[in-house]
Amino acid sequence: MFESLKPQPADKILALMQMYREDPRSEKIDLGVGVYKDAEGNTPIMRAVKAAEKRLWEEERTKTYTSLAGEPAFHAAMAELILGGGYPVDRLAAIATPGGTGAVRQAVEMVKLAAPGATIWLPDPTWPNHLSILNYLGVKTETYRYFDEATRGVDFDGMLADLGEAAAGDVVLLHGCCHNPTGANLNLVQWGEVASVLEEGGLLPLIDLAYQGFGDGLEADAAGTRLITARLPEVMIAASCSKNFGLYRERVGILMALGGNRAVTQGTLAFLNRQNYSFPPDHGARLVTMILTDPALRADWQAELEEMRQSMLGLRESLATELRRLTGSDRFGFIAEHRGMFSRLGATPAQVEKLRTEHGIYMVGDSRLNIAGLNAKTVPILAKAIADAGI
Ligand code: LMR
Repeated sequence: MFESLKPQPADKILALMQMYREDPRSEKIDLGVGVYKDAEGNTPIMRAVKAAEKRLWEEERTKTYTSLAGEPAFHAAMAELILGGGYPVDRLAAIATPGGTGAVRQAVEMVKLAAPGATIWLPDPTWPNHLSILNYLGVKTETYRYFDEATRGVDFDGMLADLGEAAAGDVVLLHGCCHNPTGANLNLVQWGEVASVLEEGGLLPLIDLAYQGFGDGLEADAAGTRLITARLPEVMIAASCSKNFGLYRERVGILMALGGNRAVTQGTLAFLNRQNYSFPPDHGARLVTMILTDPALRADWQAELEEMRQSMLGLRESLATELRRLTGSDRFGFIAEHRGMFSRLGATPAQVEKLRTEHGIYMVGDSRLNIAGLNAKTVPILAKAIADAGI
């Protein structure tokens, strides 16, 4: 039977991660996969995570199954983090999922159950795995314009025009903050206009929130999601704790669905967990719950997250400044304006390839670079390589 299997296309981001690991050059620079790195190039376990793990190790008495949907305390803590203190408890159904990707996958499964004919609209561009998952699940997809290559900002008119074409009942995937791969984001006024288009068109938003706290801060990064949740009758939110808690390998995520008959929605989500993997992973979700509900741990987590955010902002500023100095132009000013881990540089695939082969600088083929992969030493090296390559 297995002879009939055809080779699957490699995931570009993960293939690049492997290439980097296998590159013997000591001066190589990894700006590929979206992982936070400190000034020494390490991806640290956050202080509050380490403290919670120690406490959990001492206190935990059993590893028996928890709830199929994950712990209600985890749902509540995450809902408060994302939607704020007064979140609508009576509208909220939720499941813990293996990472944000698991949440996206379960959201699409929900759409397939609720509205099998619906089209899911994706921003162009989006995280490549979005499209891959949707295609694999056989869902109809369309793209809406999102990024303006010329200004390196959001093509907002194009976005609204394309969403105006969506049929009632279609689903619109939105990046809650820190757009991956471009780094260009909606402001709050624009979120309001998007909400109006969704309302008028009878469209259902699916918000992918993978980088809360990496852009303009924990509250500001959730503002668009909160606005949409306040205005639309039905909303899905797929959130990840991989980045803002540094829990990548523990696979901590949540899918929230607001609206409809809460009991039926909750039952459906739990059913989907049972069909796909039964109980969701617990360890990381438990750590997150401990951190968010313990004032001291939470304060320390927020402080460290803020340090990480400030470090990324500083790297953005210094890269933009260095490029201004080297090129004598402000055409890379957008790097300082973008938010989150990523910016799309605007290099051709050949230039990206040249940076890798000649300088050992790794970025995704569409010229997405992970700002958090830089440090004070590598910023000038990257800037010079970009200037020399004539990008
Ligand atoms: C990324 O976009 O690099 C991250 O979200 C990691 C991944 O799984 O692709």
